[in-house]
Amino acid sequence: MKYYLFGNWKCNPTNAQEAKKLFSDTAKGVKRSEKVETAVFPPFCYLAEFAGKKKEVAIGAQNCCFKESGAFTGEVSPKQIADLECKYVLIGHSERRKLFFETDGFVNEKTKLALSFDLIPVVCVGETDEDRTAGRAVEVVKNQLAAGLKDVDVKKVFAAYEPVWAIGTGKACGIAEAREMARVIREVLGPDTPILYGGSANAKNGAVYLKEAGYNGLLVGGASLKADEFAKMFQEIEGLE
Ligand code: PGA
Repeated sequence: MKYYLFGNWKCNPTNAQEAKKLFSDTAKGVKRSEKVETAVFPPFCYLAEFAGKKKEVAIGAQNCCFKESGAFTGEVSPKQIADLECKYVLIGHSERRKLFFETDGFVNEKTKLALSFDLIPVVCVGETDEDRTAGRAVEVVKNQLAAGLKDVDVKKVFAAYEPVWAIGTGKACGIAEAREMARVIREVLGPDTPILYGGSANAKNGAVYLKEAGYNGLLVGGASLKADEFAKMFQEIEGLE
């Protein structure tokens, strides 16, 4: 079984010196391993500095444009990201959906374009607190998958289940709910798509999602900004049978 430990730095750190330190400390805390693949997703401004530099840590972008090039002020295209030796790109993170009005249609266009440049899209899905309370969690996630991955070869993408209410709140998803959603996503995507869990994952709870809830890896936000915590997560995952 291959596992994945992915760190989403979001809009952090705020200067190059700290970013370089976090990257080198992260690389020191993990190993290149057959069993666990580690990747980090720094802000765009650090991608060129880090991509292809450490064999222990693959690099991904946190977003990409839905077009290859042209008049799209402020955007970075998947072709430009691929050209930097990045391997992954996050698509449809809930913060993009909520704060930057990204729709499933955009997610679908970006995913297809990223694939055309041989990037591996990590397509994020997840319900809000309101959706879950109303009993719509499974329906929302299924709809996001159907629309976001329409006409996509799902064997070439990763999916990340990140319940919105669990992101950055310290309230990680319960194992039973996480297991149920992994089952639903697996039913939709089939056996070949790695499925990650994200949402307040840390060194204490992270490996449990892999061991007991059927996930292939973790997408880690806050805890990936602490190299020692991230290293512990790596060790926990490497220690799984
Ligand atoms: P968190 O973020 O680990 O800080 O909850 C996860 C994510 O947004 O990918």
